[in-house]
Amino acid sequence: MALPLPPILQREDPEDVPEVLSASRLAALPPEAAPPRAAAWLGRASSAEAGREDGSLAPDGALLRPDTLRLRDGHHRAMTDLRLSVTDRCNYRCVYCRTGSEGAQFTELPIAHYLRMLRIFVSLGVEKVRLTGGEPLLRHGLLDLIREVARLRPAFSSAPLDIAITSNGHLLAGMAEDLKRAGLSRITVSMDAVDPEIFSRITRIPNSFERVRDGIRAAQRAGLGPVKVNCVLLRGFNDSQIEAFAEFSRREQVIVRFIEFMPLEEGRTWSPDTVVPMREIISRLNAVRPLVALPPNHASETARRFTFDDGVGEIGIIAPVSEPFCGECSRVRITSDGKLRTCLFSQSDHDLIGLMLRGGTDDEIVNWIRRIVGHKEARHHIGEPGFLKPSRSMVHIGG
Ligand code: 5AD
Ligand code: SF4
Repeated sequence: MALPLPPILQREDPEDVPEVLSASRLAALPPEAAPPRAAAWLGRASSAEAGREDGSLAPDGALLRPDTLRLRDGHHRAMTDLRLSVTDRCNYRCVYCRTGSEGAQFTELPIAHYLRMLRIFVSLGVEKVRLTGGEPLLRHGLLDLIREVARLRPAFSSAPLDIAITSNGHLLAGMAEDLKRAGLSRITVSMDAVDPEIFSRITRIPNSFERVRDGIRAAQRAGLGPVKVNCVLLRGFNDSQIEAFAEFSRREQVIVRFIEFMPLEEGRTWSPDTVVPMREIISRLNAVRPLVALPPNHASETARRFTFDDGVGEIGIIAPVSEPFCGECSRVRITSDGKLRTCLFSQSDHDLIGLMLRGGTDDEIVNWIRRIVGHKEARHHIGEPGFLKPSRSMVHIGG
């Protein structure tokens, strides 16, 4: 039976958007009222691009770049979200991700190379940086990287750069405070069961549930909350956990996000029957307590958001298989070995590090990125005849 859901509320009031002085309004101001052209992005942006058109000023006086210079793909989607994998290694071998026998397959780059890539992408309009892996907390130099990234300012928006991590949480308890101090904005922890036995069966590591739960609590205490907890549902494996996760969200005050399983694993586990679709998740949760829909936080939000009728707990459902959201995609990815990927399901990746190591200037790199991103895939083709698995699995791309 189709489930009656409360209507999704309207987006936030556009009046809430902080005012940015336009170039023409700025010119009309008396000189002493005009903040210095602090040029937050100048010197970071390529010289070929800087100053080509007048930008506007953020309330703090930083010069913002004109919107026409944003990095867009051929479908006019602005690329505001960059996911960077900082290692291919992982200390878990989750059954839906790893075969269990393969180790890391791709190298890691020195932190300085990642930083240069990030600077260039931020100058092109990236506003959210997500560090992933493998398991990013295994990466030596991660805190230094976060500290440096935290100094970057978005080029087209006056909001601070959003810096997030996706981690399996195993090492989080000992690192949460340092991560926060380094400038991390928030953290997403992958956790696919709240029953300790099922959890260990998935990760293939004993006592992993307690470690991850303690990591989540430490992150909440350190001010990295509300922590998002990602759960990939696999039929017959952990779909028994849906109701228990609802309780977990309410008890621990975390945002639990159920993700439909995509064909991105190392092995050959995926079939359409293994996917637990959004509609089923909603109806199971609704039986725990009536769900109430929440508005999306922003246009490219991948999760449909819900709370319960008493306002306690938050659930997100990410349904790339049953309700694809590619139309609003704002994401590009860089792998740990420095390759640019324009889609999770790309059949090839692009040799960004090669161009850098051959001595490419920032201008050359910017032009190359614009050309590659111009050909970003319109959407994935999961479940369609002729679907081809991507050239890399999730662990080797970065989530
Ligand atoms: N389908 C959906 N999500 C996946 N993840 C890993 N593999 C898959 C898959 N095949 C999730 C991880 C983590 C995030 C990076 O992606 O659980 O939360
Ligand atoms: Fe590691 Fe994440 Fe893959 Fe699990 S899902 S093996 S934690 S990369």
